[in-house]
Amino acid sequence: METNIQETHRLIRNRRSIYPNMYSGEVIKREVIQEILENANWAPTHKLTEPWRFSVFTGDGLKKLARFQADLYKDKAKGNFDQSQFDKLNTKPLLASHIISIGMKRDDNESIPEIEEVCAVACAVQNMYLTAGAYGLGCYWTTGGATYWDEAKQFFGLNSHDKLMGFLYLGVPKTKWPQGRRTPIADKVQWVEN
Ligand SMILES: Cc1cc2nc3c(=O)[nH]c(=O)nc-3n(C[C@H](O)[C@H](O)[C@H](O)COP(=O)(O)O)c2cc1C
Repeated sequence: METNIQETHRLIRNRRSIYPNMYSGEVIKREVIQEILENANWAPTHKLTEPWRFSVFTGDGLKKLARFQADLYKDKAKGNFDQSQFDKLNTKPLLASHIISIGMKRDDNESIPEIEEVCAVACAVQNMYLTAGAYGLGCYWTTGGATYWDEAKQFFGLNSHDKLMGFLYLGVPKTKWPQGRRTPIADKVQWVEN
């Protein structure tokens, strides 16, 4: 496999989460989203279960998603309803060019420990993050909104054994590419050499 290692380092280390208030409003071309999804599909997967499932929202689809999560919040909140939370759920998706819901589909035999399927989906999300970054596009993974609401699963094509793992927001950045921040890797590694 031939790759440019310096470019690979640069891509991985400069990958950033870029948030909806940093998007210009421009809509990303469908072909680019298609390439981002294709790269998600090449994530590692134990026993080739390929557990990632995505719904892609754009255009009026974003309004549909926004309304769905806001209305579901209202149903669930009952006495604790907070209008500002409703408004946030109902408007934030509209800042994105596309939103991809991130689902983990459990295989029928449940032959793999669930954590491994979640890991495979996370790898698929990283592939999307990196591909978006390589195109100069902004994206971020959020576990807000309907992520942990069981009642929401069906809307995203998932059943009760599956998991909704959040949403990847995508947009064209209008701001400077942000600086990253990490503590040294040496603090998180032990070497065993003899
Ligand atoms: C599983 C997961 C869930 C995340 N959920 C949120 C979230 O709900 N809200 C948010 O602002 N960022 C969320 N993030 C993005 C992190 O805030 C971001 O990765 C972190 O600040 C490091 O910044 P970087 O991605 O630019 O390196 C999430 C990231 C991961 C991996």
